[in-house]
Amino acid sequence: MSIKRKDALQVAVLASGRGSNLQAVIDAIEAGTVQAKIVAVISNKKDAPALERARRQGLSSLFVDPKPYAGTPDSREAYDRELLDVLRRHDVELVLLAGYMKIVTRVLVEAFTNRMMNIHPSLLPSFPGLDVQKKAIEWGCKLAGCTVHFVTEGVDEGPIILQVAVPILDDDTSDTLAARILKQEHKIYPRAVQLFAEGRLRVEGRRVFIEDGKPEGEAVISPS
Ligand code: GAR
Repeated sequence: MSIKRKDALQVAVLASGRGSNLQAVIDAIEAGTVQAKIVAVISNKKDAPALERARRQGLSSLFVDPKPYAGTPDSREAYDRELLDVLRRHDVELVLLAGYMKIVTRVLVEAFTNRMMNIHPSLLPSFPGLDVQKKAIEWGCKLAGCTVHFVTEGVDEGPIILQVAVPILDDDTSDTLAARILKQEHKIYPRAVQLFAEGRLRVEGRRVFIEDGKPEGEAVISPS
């Protein structure tokens, strides 16, 4: 059952880096495969290429400086209170973390429970954190992948919405593997946003069910 909305879903994207996932969502909206509107792109990094992308697309782009909060006892929460204020002013319904390299606190998590998503370049719960492609190769995994999940207070721990597996090849470096995974990130992030926009994501505890979802295939084997 898909829920017909009167207006496009109001989305904000938080990004710290190059913003290729932001671009994938922008492209999907332009192509009409995602019914959403990006109302704000926000970064904790002044020079984030993601902000420049947003500007080029005519989107509202904001740098929110973490410096004024540095050194205060609740610096991370105080920063998130400022972000929350910005998000509320923009009537944001869904927040997307897209290469946002700052840990979000309960201030945002509680305000956006099951309304904030993150994309991570591993098959969670394996390899949370940083340098995960390198870690997957070094561990000797045969499969890697990416995960879209709802954000909770635990880093990379929230309920999983979608995952894609890709093979790890014998001659992979972390860069070649990251590129293979990134291609899939660009597919599943917009898809997760559209599922949310259609009201098709149901969260029960740790599990996310997709209403009217169709299972695809039986197994991914690597090496095949
Ligand atoms: C992506 O690979 C994303 O999965 C990862 O950062 C990259 C951002 O790329 N995020 C994390 O590692 C979060 N734990 P992008 O700026 O081009 O979208």
